[in-house]
Amino acid sequence: MKLLVLGGTAWLGRTTAASAIAAGHDVTCAARGTDVPHGVRQVHVDRDAPDGLAPLIDARWDAVIDVSRQPGQVRRAARQLRTDRYVFVSTCNVYASQAEIGADESAPLLDPLDTDVMTDPEDYGRAKVACEDAVREVFDIDRSAIVRSGLIGGPGDPTGRSTYWPRRFAAPSNPDGAVLAPDAPRLPTSLIDVRDLAGWLVRLADGAGSGVFDAQGVPHPIPAHLEAARAAAGHRGRVTVAAEDWLAERDVHEWVGPRSLPLWLRDPDWYGMNARSTERAVAAGLERRPLESTLADVLGGPVVSGAGLTDGEERELLAQLAV
Ligand SMILES: NC(=O)c1ccc[n+]([C@@H]2O[C@H](COP(=O)([O-])OP(=O)(O)OC[C@H]3O[C@@H](n4cnc5c(N)ncnc54)[C@H](OP(=O)(O)O)[C@@H]3O)[C@@H](O)[C@H]2O)c1
Repeated sequence: MKLLVLGGTAWLGRTTAASAIAAGHDVTCAARGTDVPHGVRQVHVDRDAPDGLAPLIDARWDAVIDVSRQPGQVRRAARQLRTDRYVFVSTCNVYASQAEIGADESAPLLDPLDTDVMTDPEDYGRAKVACEDAVREVFDIDRSAIVRSGLIGGPGDPTGRSTYWPRRFAAPSNPDGAVLAPDAPRLPTSLIDVRDLAGWLVRLADGAGSGVFDAQGVPHPIPAHLEAARAAAGHRGRVTVAAEDWLAERDVHEWVGPRSLPLWLRDPDWYGMNARSTERAVAAGLERRPLESTLADVLGGPVVSGAGLTDGEERELLAQLAV
């Protein structure tokens, strides 16, 4: 297959291009940067310019895979590139509600962003809706795949959301080996391994399936997720759970970023975000490795700074809990 990856210099796009090369395809990556996998042809484009795709439009592609989040970029690519198939990487953030567990692709979406450029990160979901619309204006359902990804994890995760827990269990902050966790027994988590998602995107580009798909990892309540991380790290200490209100009162943040407990979400109206139905994706060939295997594979990677609690923050919170 003659494949064009729009992107290829960041985490998922790069892994996708590498996966396509490994599968024997002829791969071109188009981006402003040059850090693409070995074996890929790199073309410099700036998709923000109206004629930015000029170096690509004389070519004919079997498939394009696009990771953009900017509606104008996607609209121009869908209209200008000559390709049989278009695979667009979207997000489960396109849905209007994240409350229902097990909701499928027919759930209502947010209103599309009505500008070409997203400037406020709060508009991410609406921008992706507009991107999806731009693809579907040009490519009918048989010639396109819209992949609404859930949280991506695994080696190279730049956000630290999938790496914090196994690394925390592998290197506790305190001599007792205690690890602080939120008391949220019913909170679903899910991680789709970046390598599983990348491989499936390439197979979709090669015709394995068409339509709209929610693509997430298998859901695990956070206690089971932490058990998998403990097992991957060989941790033998205690898991010390703290009440959600207690954590919030001490300015511990949810989900991601500094002074956070990654993956933690307090609001039950967000419990469906990581537990959507993936039946359609699995029927179209999405294969997911066990969570423990993904978590074990991040142990050797770099520590992501600014993700989770520092050792000092965790020690201080554990000491307060012990009083
Ligand atoms: N991380 C998650 O958990 C998660 C969850 C759901 C969905 N997603 C989706 O998964 C995808 C992640 O993609 P990714 O890891 O490859 O990272 P990304 O940061 O979204 O990639 C953006 C890519 O587009 C290129 N790009 C940006 N602006 C450009 C421009 N003006 N002209 C040309 N190229 C441009 C970038 O390359 P240059 O900067 O080199 O130009 C880069 O390769 C995204 O679609 C994201 O929305 C992620």
